[in-house]
Amino acid sequence: MTQPVRVAITGAAGQIAYSLIFRIASGDMLGKDQPVILQLLDIPDSLEKLKGTIMEIDDCAFPLVQGIIGTSDAEEAFEGVKYAMLVGARPRGPGMERADLLQANAKIFSVQGKALSSKADSDVRVLVVGNPANTNALITASNAPKLDPKQITAMTRLDHNRALSQLAAKTGAHSTDIEKLMIWGNHSASQYPDLTHATVKGKAASSLVDQEWVEKDFIPTVQQRGAAIIKARGASSAASAASSAVDHMRDWAKGSDGQWVSMAIPSDGSYGIKPGVVYSYPVVTKGGQYEIVKDLPIDSFSRGKMDATDQELREERAAIEDLLK
Ligand code: NAI
Repeated sequence: MTQPVRVAITGAAGQIAYSLIFRIASGDMLGKDQPVILQLLDIPDSLEKLKGTIMEIDDCAFPLVQGIIGTSDAEEAFEGVKYAMLVGARPRGPGMERADLLQANAKIFSVQGKALSSKADSDVRVLVVGNPANTNALITASNAPKLDPKQITAMTRLDHNRALSQLAAKTGAHSTDIEKLMIWGNHSASQYPDLTHATVKGKAASSLVDQEWVEKDFIPTVQQRGAAIIKARGASSAASAASSAVDHMRDWAKGSDGQWVSMAIPSDGSYGIKPGVVYSYPVVTKGGQYEIVKDLPIDSFSRGKMDATDQELREERAAIEDLLK
């Protein structure tokens, strides 16, 4: 039998995890032939609730689940893990300034970065979902000296999937008919969903939609989709966030089959984005690695949007600079 792999999920008593854990346990992320040991982390106040989630995992009698650990100790949760999904984060409280939110999360993610560095498998792949995801990933990496910063990524796949679905609806196509769509920058309202290189059934998307729709409808709808879901549902997106986290990790682990997908990764100077932030790029994944899609022509409209979201990330970085190593 294939050896089980250890997968850590933080924020395990929360609403995203309530979808995510069950998708992983049923084999949607790592395959129907890959057994898993689930290592679930939450804060002490949430452990009772986590106990209930674990009872439910047990009650599914998943063939692939070979063990479950529920803990509030990050080192125990990250022991030997090959995949870590960092979902838990501090939400914005009443009257909390953005800088306070960044600082509060930076503390959480520096602890978790250290624990990953000392306890996780040296080849661990880390996905940060908890917001502000890009900057939390930056903090995690800077506190994980034994890991390559490239091992620590943040999630813009939900934004990518939202962009696919908006363009599919507009053009009367299916999301699987669309290629070469991408999200640049921060997982925030400053992100830039870019369809200038995209194709729909092989045809240039830009020949199927007009620029007014792109600027007044497509971009703001994707940027504001999270807020629209909160307004409609009374709670933030959870099942779709979990599904996108599964997509991100599955493609990273098993390859994207030549498809371009969006991942927030350490900037390396590509496309004029200087090192020092975790920035969403179009990538192709293969053999457990990702490569940035290079040498795309960037028009002046895109340049402005890409630089604006970079600027926001640099401001986030400045707010937590003291916690970077
Ligand atoms: P939730 O509030 O339902 O659950 C969060 C869980 O994290 C709670 O159980 C809480 O106790 C736990 N937690 C808090 N601090 C922790 C710590 N230090 N260690 C471990 N666990 C901790 O929130 P939900 O809806 O599950 O969302 C989780 C995060 O994901 C939020 O930050 C949210 O903004 C973010 N998010 C990110 C998206 C993305 O596309 N990157 C999309 C949607 C949500």
